[in-house]
Amino acid sequence: MRITEMIQSKKVGGQLSEEQIHSLLRGYARGCVPEHQMAALIMAVWFNGLSRRETIEFTRAMAESGDSIPPGSFLPCSSADKHSTGGVGDKTTLVLGPLLAAAGVIVAKMSGRSLGHTGGTIDKLESIPGLSVHLSLEELVSKAGSIGLAVGIQTENLVPADQKLYTLRDATATVDSLPLIASSIMSKKLACSADTLLLDVKVGEGALLPEIADAQELASMMVEIGNSAGQRTRAAITDMNQPLGCTIGNALEVTEAIDTLRGRGSSQLRHLCLFLGSHVLALCDDDTEPEENYRNLASLLSGGEALDKFSEFIENQGGDPRITEDTSLLPQAEEMVEVRSRKCGCVCGIRTSEIGAAAQKLSAGRDASGQVRDPAAGIVLQKKIADEVQCNELLATLHRGSTADARIPPQLIDRVRSAFCIGETRILPPQLIRALVTDEGITHLKDHCVDNSVG
Ligand code: URA
Repeated sequence: MRITEMIQSKKVGGQLSEEQIHSLLRGYARGCVPEHQMAALIMAVWFNGLSRRETIEFTRAMAESGDSIPPGSFLPCSSADKHSTGGVGDKTTLVLGPLLAAAGVIVAKMSGRSLGHTGGTIDKLESIPGLSVHLSLEELVSKAGSIGLAVGIQTENLVPADQKLYTLRDATATVDSLPLIASSIMSKKLACSADTLLLDVKVGEGALLPEIADAQELASMMVEIGNSAGQRTRAAITDMNQPLGCTIGNALEVTEAIDTLRGRGSSQLRHLCLFLGSHVLALCDDDTEPEENYRNLASLLSGGEALDKFSEFIENQGGDPRITEDTSLLPQAEEMVEVRSRKCGCVCGIRTSEIGAAAQKLSAGRDASGQVRDPAAGIVLQKKIADEVQCNELLATLHRGSTADARIPPQLIDRVRSAFCIGETRILPPQLIRALVTDEGITHLKDHCVDNSVG
């Protein structure tokens, strides 16, 4: 293997062969390719990209670099996985996992720690007293097989090539390369071997990708990678120009997920979960239509089956299932501070990344050692885009838990207030689900405007 030849080829826009890509990533995972050469190669990829064929091979080679769940582990049942590219207040997995399991689909999900400023699924689940996400692949398969749902933290040997490469991308400012993002996400999904995969690609100011053209490109790359590897894959492109639902922060988001599993909660979060779930069921069974699946899933929320499944899941992973009946058993805020509007009008925008950064300042995220600083910390939004607001009306409430040592500073209250843009003209809520990407192409959706009601 001549690595300099590969770097030279990518530097001038050439293409790598299947054999070159596999031996490069095999060598890199084993420590036989020096970091400086890999850094040069990924910088050339950042400038010149990878063709679809190269991206597919790159992903397969990464997926094969470590352990994986044996395909067919859950036969004769269908298994499903989902992935979100991440956003502020995104607690979809906490609802969708139990909902799909209640519908008879097996969900065995490996999640990474959060890469963004607020918590990931693992952080949210770890706010549940006693719950453990440290499962071996065998335990994950056995727990999911027994009740339909298990969630574990990514093990060290799951796609080790990606774990090394991600650190290198971070250190070389090459994280924002679409083929590298696609292969990083999809290699982990392929290693988990679910029959079907639903991707939620977020777009907007609070997302990894603010531009719709980039979100579409990433979604279609990932759909092609999944389908070409035999994993039936679709992607939804969904809005992240405001936080999803009304809560940001680990225990707060678990509480909101429980509300949604009760058939209540934010209508936007509920609609997104039902939409994503309806497409997972359509992927699992070609004979079903998403519209009918949507209605069936809605009845699993209103009938309580999805919440019962969440409770069973918590118990199966060592947590206290009583939280589904009594959310005061979750970590609670010690101090709550109101953020009130100084203007009247209509909320015409929410700077989502600012809300995420404020939640981080409240200690909802991780410290330098990787520990969640305060599971009770976060923000509850009382207003969302398109809501009318009176002068001095409540916009948001800031929560600080007992583990943070300082009181909430006034600058943080101002920062959250300034994240709300209040105008004079009434507007509609942003379109939540912008497009659906399947192996047949992109369908732009028009009328998925959901109101801001909270049940
Ligand atoms: N998530 C991943 O797993 N990898 C990336 O490169 C970006 C987001």
